[in-house]
Amino acid sequence: MTRKVLLTGGCGYIGSHICMELIKQGFTPVILDNLCNSSTIPLRRIEQLTGQPIPFIEGDIRNEATLERLFSEHAIEATIHLAGLKSVAESVAKPISYYQNNFAGTLPLCEVMQRHGVKRFIYSSSATVYGLTAQSPIREDAPTAPASPYGQSKLMAEIALRDIAHADPQWKIAILRYFNPVGAHASGQIGEHPNGVPNNLMPYVSQVATGRRPFIQVFGSDYPTPDGTGVRDYLHVCDLADAHLCALRWLDGAQGIRTFNLGTGRGYSVLEIIDAYEKACGHPLPRQFLDRRPGDVASYHADPGLAVDELRWRATRDIEDMCRDAWNWQSHNPNGYVES
Ligand code: NAD
Ligand code: UFG
Repeated sequence: MTRKVLLTGGCGYIGSHICMELIKQGFTPVILDNLCNSSTIPLRRIEQLTGQPIPFIEGDIRNEATLERLFSEHAIEATIHLAGLKSVAESVAKPISYYQNNFAGTLPLCEVMQRHGVKRFIYSSSATVYGLTAQSPIREDAPTAPASPYGQSKLMAEIALRDIAHADPQWKIAILRYFNPVGAHASGQIGEHPNGVPNNLMPYVSQVATGRRPFIQVFGSDYPTPDGTGVRDYLHVCDLADAHLCALRWLDGAQGIRTFNLGTGRGYSVLEIIDAYEKACGHPLPRQFLDRRPGDVASYHADPGLAVDELRWRATRDIEDMCRDAWNWQSHNPNGYVES
């Protein structure tokens, strides 16, 4: 009997990497995804790579009937909840969708889990819940003050989870606050391919590297950082996936709710990322320096000490690994997931 784990949003960028790792470590992931920002191609690729069939339910976390059926048909022991919307800019234009998906969508999921006596939960949160003035390295007890509806919706779900855990001590919950996940699986078969123009640095750089876009736009060169460009704590998506497996094991012995930062603990500037990517792809990447992007902070990075001590997790992949794997994925899949 393998241990079944519900993975909501499992067809997405991070979910597909966690799915791969769950299978590698002997779990059976059951995927629930409404495919609003993904397709089932990554699942088929993972099935090919691992030789394991992956149970998939196309459905929405907000649909209680779907959840009821899923928990009746599968003996789920824990949920890793990634399903949600993630664009900061879109959340400013469409706050209702963000509150509905990210905050309200978490509630029926917990309700149905509670009815079925499944009370182990791992939640995908984000460093965006910290205020713009948080001091780096950022610890989990830094004040929260999200600057967008996206960040608010993630924090509201965290708050609801805290109240759920306090109301019923049988719940065991790990809230994982991701810093900047990048890169791809070493196979080059799964990775990130945002729809339209990428908002984030790494996918944008990847598309410049393949020639899809003419130059990298560097937002701000006058920050108080060593080279004047913004600094972030980039984290390999496979290290991030490993952290979820550590959190699953941590839940076995845990009680109540705990929040963990997931980052490497060191920052890289935009120019350092471009340099590392040039080495990975083997050619120069044109760039243009533009004004700062509104709402961006100069620099932040995590204090991942709590995850190291309690989850027994530490990021092992460095910036060269992140850029090599991002390029391996992008150069083999320049148009993202296309049916083969
Ligand atoms: P993604 O868009 O690639 O994956 C999210 C998946 O959830 C998609 O497959 C989408 O179809 C699905 N989904 C969305 N709403 C749904 C709903 N109502 N019901 C069922 N499925 C739904 O995003 P990702 O980068 O893999 O992010 C996963 C999670 O990690 C999100 O919760 C996001 O907030 C969080 N996170 C991401 C980052 C990042 O930089 N990528 C950083 C911090 C936190
Ligand atoms: N940047 C550029 N050019 C680009 C894109 C970004 O110079 O085309 C710069 C930004 O100004 C920033 C750095 O690259 O200095 C990183 O920007 P990203 O957009 O890649 O990442 P952010 O740190 O702004 O935000 C991301 C997600 C958030 C999440 C946060 C922490 O977009 O949702 O990481 O996890 F909350």
